[in-house]
Amino acid sequence: MTSDGLAPRQSQWFVIGLVVALVAVVGFGTWFVIHEGSRDRGASVTGGSITDPLVRGERVYGLCANCHGVEGGGQIGRAPALLGSPLLGVENLVRLIRHGYRSDRSSKWIERMAGAPALGDHDVAAVVTWVRARFAGSEEVVTAEEVAVIRAATGRRMQPWTTAELVARQAASEEKKTGPR
Ligand code: HEC
Repeated sequence: MTSDGLAPRQSQWFVIGLVVALVAVVGFGTWFVIHEGSRDRGASVTGGSITDPLVRGERVYGLCANCHGVEGGGQIGRAPALLGSPLLGVENLVRLIRHGYRSDRSSKWIERMAGAPALGDHDVAAVVTWVRARFAGSEEVVTAEEVAVIRAATGRRMQPWTTAELVARQAASEEKKTGPR
């Protein structure tokens, strides 16, 4: 008998049991934190499982293709072309996808660019990356973190952006950084 009243074999099993329980709790805790931490904010049309931004972006672009066409050429009377659009800067795209866009010539189109405020940052980042790669020849990979910063800066805005706002924004971000954004 040991001083704590347990036989040596019993206290050995007790310690082993304790260690196993500890490992299980720490292991589950770590898995939970990592899993929750990497979960997408907001809705995802891709289920959040695709990590390649171009593959994921192409999938998300399915939302846009209805109006802008699979090849980004637009549809006469319906929606403008994205190919060659002057509004493919990162900041503009994120804003316009989130809140929508109402230009000075919006009466030309039957459709409205309404915006998708609930689309998650990872999906927005992926579609912005893909649209810029496909229609503006950019190799830049836009991250969900960048999208989150722009989202925070635009706050609770509800109205679609105007051309004047986007043009001013694009000019400001080009001054800040070198090269087209
Ligand atoms: C319901 C139809 C519709 C959907 C869906 C849609 N758009 Fe649009 N989009 C429009 C219309 C219409 C305009 C023109 C708005 C205006 O001029 O007032 C536009 C304008 C734009 C422009 C500005 C083009 C330019 O040069 O004037 C961009 C960029 C754009 N959309 C990107 C997207 C992306 C990216 C998606 C998908 C996430 C998307 N749109 C989904 C209808 C749509």
